[in-house]
Amino acid sequence: MDYRKFGNTELNVSVIGFGSWGIGGPAMAKDLPIGWGNVDDRTSVQALKKAFDQGINFYDTADIYGVGHSEELIGKTFGNRQDVIIASKAGHLINAEGDLSVNYSKSYIIQACEKSLKRLRRETIDYYQLHSAQVKHLQQGECIEAMETLQKAGKIRYWGVSLNTFQPQPEADFLMQHQLGNGFQIVFNLLNQRALPLIRKAAAAGYGIIARMPLQFGLLTGKFNKNSRFAKNDHRVFRLTPELLEKADHLLQEVWQKAKEKGISKTAYSLSFCYSFPEISTVIPGIKTPEQVLSNTTGIVKLSDEEIAFMQRLYQEKFTELIQLIEKNG
Ligand SMILES: NC(=O)c1ccc[n+]([C@@H]2O[C@H](COP(=O)([O-])OP(=O)(O)OC[C@H]3O[C@@H](n4cnc5c(N)ncnc54)[C@H](OP(=O)(O)O)[C@@H]3O)[C@@H](O)[C@H]2O)c1
Repeated sequence: MDYRKFGNTELNVSVIGFGSWGIGGPAMAKDLPIGWGNVDDRTSVQALKKAFDQGINFYDTADIYGVGHSEELIGKTFGNRQDVIIASKAGHLINAEGDLSVNYSKSYIIQACEKSLKRLRRETIDYYQLHSAQVKHLQQGECIEAMETLQKAGKIRYWGVSLNTFQPQPEADFLMQHQLGNGFQIVFNLLNQRALPLIRKAAAAGYGIIARMPLQFGLLTGKFNKNSRFAKNDHRVFRLTPELLEKADHLLQEVWQKAKEKGISKTAYSLSFCYSFPEISTVIPGIKTPEQVLSNTTGIVKLSDEEIAFMQRLYQEKFTELIQLIEKNG
């Protein structure tokens, strides 16, 4: 496992991290699935332990993942150990009516952090993120005050924003202009390379970069085809439609040919693509099982400049329509 410095912070993060949304389990906001289907807690804990054995020291979670359950499992597994780096998030919640909602007020964020610390069984959260906060929330300022207050109180070490999936620029620009925060979490993968200029700009300005969704919901493992279907409690049921699956399967054939030539798995090739950008501090595939830990930490290599250029051409010339469809599905 390689480790990279997280921007200007003192954190040294494993280049592959552990995305902990899935292990939260099948939470629902009324009829809306906000998890990844059924999981078994014993398997999730085994996955967390296996990840640590494989050198993964960076675990990304959020209070909304399994409505606290993802944080609880991480707390139960690692507690207050200092050799794991925990990143969590606040701002999303299920409101009294049972709907998915947001709150970025100072008092809410401070309370949410205290609750996360309890579930995580930690004294400090290493990196705390405003979960998809928008410019209007940042401009209003309370959420920034909350982060600074928590930092001064030693409840969090560093903070940043987990940026909007499709329009990450305005919030990143706001923090960079005001020299606030320490990092950004950004969607970046072989299919969706849109954020690359932003990643480069933010890294140059000293921000740590977390590349999320590196497997685009599992599409970039090559395991799905047009006949794949998802359970009602898996958010992919409305995101990975048969139309989208068929298009992706067709478009990815050229990528899989390159993986074959390189002699690594499709998953390893997809993760290698992200790993090959030194501006990215850590790449966080969502992980549910020890087997996925192994396949997400094996065979990751730096792609050649030629391979990267080829993938960038594919993105510009062939993937745009698919990304638009992914955006439409939310
Ligand atoms: N707004 C935000 O802040 C935000 C939004 C999204 C994600 N995130 C963070 O980013 C992390 C990663 O993103 P993501 O979970 O959306 O997507 P992802 O990494 O692109 O895909 C993860 C899914 O792919 C499947 N998978 C993973 N490794 C595999 C392997 N080796 N072989 C086969 N299948 C594999 C798993 O699902 P199955 O086994 O069920 O197929 C897993 O849940 C999340 O866990 C979360 O920490 C943050």
